Amino acid sequence: MLAAVSPAHQRAVHAFRELFHAEPRVVARAPGRVNLIGEHVDYNGGFVLPVAIDRDVVVAAAPRSDGIVRVRAVDAGEEVILQVHGDSAPLVGWRSYIAGVIALLSQIPIPIEGADLSVAGDVPIGAGLSSSAAFEVAVATAFLGLADRTLPGPELAVLCRRAEVEYARVQCGIMDQFVSVLGKAGHALLLDCRSLESRYIPLPGSVRLVITDSGVRRDLQSSAFNERFSECRTAAEQLGVRELREISPAEFERRASTVTQPAARRARHVVYEIARTLEAAGALERGDLSRVGSLMYESHAGLRDEYEVSLPELDLLVESARRIDGVYGSRVSGAGFGGCTLSLVAEEAVPEFERAVPGEYLAATGRHAEVLVARSSGGASLQRGT
Ligand code: GLA
Repeated sequence: MLAAVSPAHQRAVHAFRELFHAEPRVVARAPGRVNLIGEHVDYNGGFVLPVAIDRDVVVAAAPRSDGIVRVRAVDAGEEVILQVHGDSAPLVGWRSYIAGVIALLSQIPIPIEGADLSVAGDVPIGAGLSSSAAFEVAVATAFLGLADRTLPGPELAVLCRRAEVEYARVQCGIMDQFVSVLGKAGHALLLDCRSLESRYIPLPGSVRLVITDSGVRRDLQSSAFNERFSECRTAAEQLGVRELREISPAEFERRASTVTQPAARRARHVVYEIARTLEAAGALERGDLSRVGSLMYESHAGLRDEYEVSLPELDLLVESARRIDGVYGSRVSGAGFGGCTLSLVAEEAVPEFERAVPGEYLAATGRHAEVLVARSSGGASLQRGT
């Protein structure tokens, strides 16, 4: 039996036919993610606990042989055209991700002699759900499909991360790309961001991952993300380690006074967050959702007070979720500076959550919050034909 195709898949294929007057040869999809806990620790070599979700970027593609890559972003109504060999246009916006993926695949070498691509998706952009990683992974998966090649999952994730760091100039870690490639339905993924060893941890069937979109948008390329990265490097240097991952909370407390501000505040969040993530993974394995939830609240406090990437809107959403019976935990999801919160909610408490949280948010901010109950999903996949 054929799997039902998603609306994003239909939009990508439909646009491909309209624009290129041909059938796509492959259709690739890659999911966005939420992160249960382990925020701003991946680029410090720490542990993270993300879940791939049922929101995808879908790329329909067919090869060309004239050295041109033409990409249509269906939902945004935008288009970019790149030269595979020696493109000299400035690396801005989503063009940089495509240019990075093409250049890095070509170095392997994966032969790319041009392609037509149409892209559609339902991962909200700039909302902390990893739309950029899903985009990079879907584009890379499509090019691999066109070349009839595959890469081991971790290698594909590392390549896509390099596209973001080296071409889009965001000093991100490996979490988003890794889970977009290797996520598994029904599971969170505990990832050691230094060794890239990972382990799946089942999610209890009775709990829901509830995303609340504050409606406040951010742009990683222009946000303070890279500044946080540098502050962590400063702290690591002052503590004499390669990465903050090497410092336990107890050791940090002994040596914190040797670190200058604001690096010390950032480092405090990171070292405790890594410890919280390992504890949360154990609690999730035991089915102790109350403990996982408490650690999520602690994570949010660290992101708000020490890492300073929350916003009053996100704090409001977390506090209003906290007042509802059956909400285990809630926190800002992803990089912060806007975007969404993630709440861990007992199935039966979801209707009350959907009623109360947006109402309180509207009353307090005048803004509409969108609530989305996400399902966990598998990682990137490729389909030949439509
Ligand atoms: C963004 C980055 C990730 C990670 C998170 C914060 O999503 O892409 O690598 O650093 O922020 O945890």
